[in-house]
Amino acid sequence: MKKLMAANWKMYKMRAEATATASDLVARLDGRLPEDREVLVIPPFTALWAVGGAFAGKTGLSLGGQDLYPAKEGAFTGEIAPDMLRDAGCRYVLTGHSERRHVLGEDDAFVGKKTAFGLAAGLSVILCVGEKVEERKAGQLEAVVTRQLAAGLADVPSEVSPEALAVAYEPVWAIGTGLTAGPKEVEEAHAMIRAWLIERFGPQTGPSVRILYGGSVKPGNAELLLGIDNVDGVLVGGASLEAESFAAIVTA
Ligand code: PGA
Repeated sequence: MKKLMAANWKMYKMRAEATATASDLVARLDGRLPEDREVLVIPPFTALWAVGGAFAGKTGLSLGGQDLYPAKEGAFTGEIAPDMLRDAGCRYVLTGHSERRHVLGEDDAFVGKKTAFGLAAGLSVILCVGEKVEERKAGQLEAVVTRQLAAGLADVPSEVSPEALAVAYEPVWAIGTGLTAGPKEVEEAHAMIRAWLIERFGPQTGPSVRILYGGSVKPGNAELLLGIDNVDGVLVGGASLEAESFAAIVTA
């Protein structure tokens, strides 16, 4: 499967700026997108249609939502349904991003509901997991990440298609801080997640589910990170906001 190069724009960019960045990215990647990579841009909801328009007719570029609410429709003020994301052209959605967990207070069980609901609604889901710095220092990396995986994927059928599911390992202490996990730390965490996925989904699916790394990915460290075993892509925040730096990461 191709490496998934994902840009999470978080709560940045008005429509005009989003359109300009997306068009710039299309131009920079024209004829230069490596065969083994696919690009995913995850803009704020208000810019989905604009970015989708800039990507129209291009191959290898997809659109994703930053979150979803686990219901078809209803009285859920402020929330967004998976069908609405699909209607806006999304193929992917994030669940369990650390900012949803730690700033907005989402718990493991709710993240699990969202993941299963998004998959059932036909979206490909990227479940984000990762430990806080105090958890890592206390030796709880494996306990925290496996708890998040178990709850986050609790209702996902074992026969899920590996194209429809990805896990993003994002150590919370590396997000937006300029600190990247070292190659050894990334390798160990990804190997642990891989082993868990094989145990959970079996020898057919477990090895194929993509595991992305996220947390201060930059043009200068992308190549190193992408060369580590079980790193099947990256989830980029800050360095994805400029087309130039994200294109450099995509082609690293
Ligand atoms: P960062 O964010 O690249 O700015 O560290 C990554 C993320 O939150 O997905």
